[in-house]
Amino acid sequence: MKRVPEPELMDSVEQTTAYAAADFSEPNGLFCEHLRSTLTSRPPGRLLDLGCGSGGLLVDMAHALDEWTLIGTDAGPNMLSLAAELIETQALASRIELIKAHLPGDIGALQAQGHFAAITSNSLLHHLADPMTLWQSVATLGAPKTQVVVMDLSRPSSIEAAEALVEAHTEGADDVLKQDFLNSLCAAWRADEVLDQLQQMGWHDWTLTEPSNRHWLVTGQL
Ligand SMILES: C[S@@+](CC[C@H](N)C(=O)[O-])C[C@H]1O[C@@H](n2cnc3c(N)ncnc32)[C@H](O)[C@@H]1O
Repeated sequence: MKRVPEPELMDSVEQTTAYAAADFSEPNGLFCEHLRSTLTSRPPGRLLDLGCGSGGLLVDMAHALDEWTLIGTDAGPNMLSLAAELIETQALASRIELIKAHLPGDIGALQAQGHFAAITSNSLLHHLADPMTLWQSVATLGAPKTQVVVMDLSRPSSIEAAEALVEAHTEGADDVLKQDFLNSLCAAWRADEVLDQLQQMGWHDWTLTEPSNRHWLVTGQL
């Protein structure tokens, strides 16, 4: 299926409310399990999450890495205000900071934050006008040995296959979430395209796995 880009930001009140209410426990669980096993031999440090959205995964990561401090960043003010509420409710404000930044234009605000031992991102890549923005931001914001974990959806082979995934994974969800999920699947990059992006960065030894029927996950060290 030919890729159909979607708007970079999904920040209307309807979209952000539907996104925050959605059940992402399966992909978030896969992501956190992988992250914890990847970081297990490292001393606790600071983790930067790019495109943190309404903060669900950020909070799950804070629980999975209980000695780490986290910075979540996103360009959407409505997403960030839902993330702030969630962090407050979970009493995690002492360990999670939020910064509003639009990549790549606001990268200086993130560089000013200092060293990150880990950089993560989930479901941001397919939103960006240029996918290299994500990888170049990672290269700019990281340092030698920074651990990188990035996950996103994989574009199915046909619109029918995309619709079947929406049907299977949005039971009980409202129409706004279903439409956003379909749009995201149609905008997503396939594993072979992501491997090509990594090659362009010169990251030849990074690994890509496919942890579910609709995700790829990239791990590497700068
Ligand atoms: C699908 S959400 C993912 C949220 C979160 N990472 C998660 O796993 O639940 C994608 C997020 O990327 C943000 N975004 C899109 N383009 C961006 C950009 N150029 N700079 C910063 N954030 C961006 C959107 O505002 C949105 O919150």
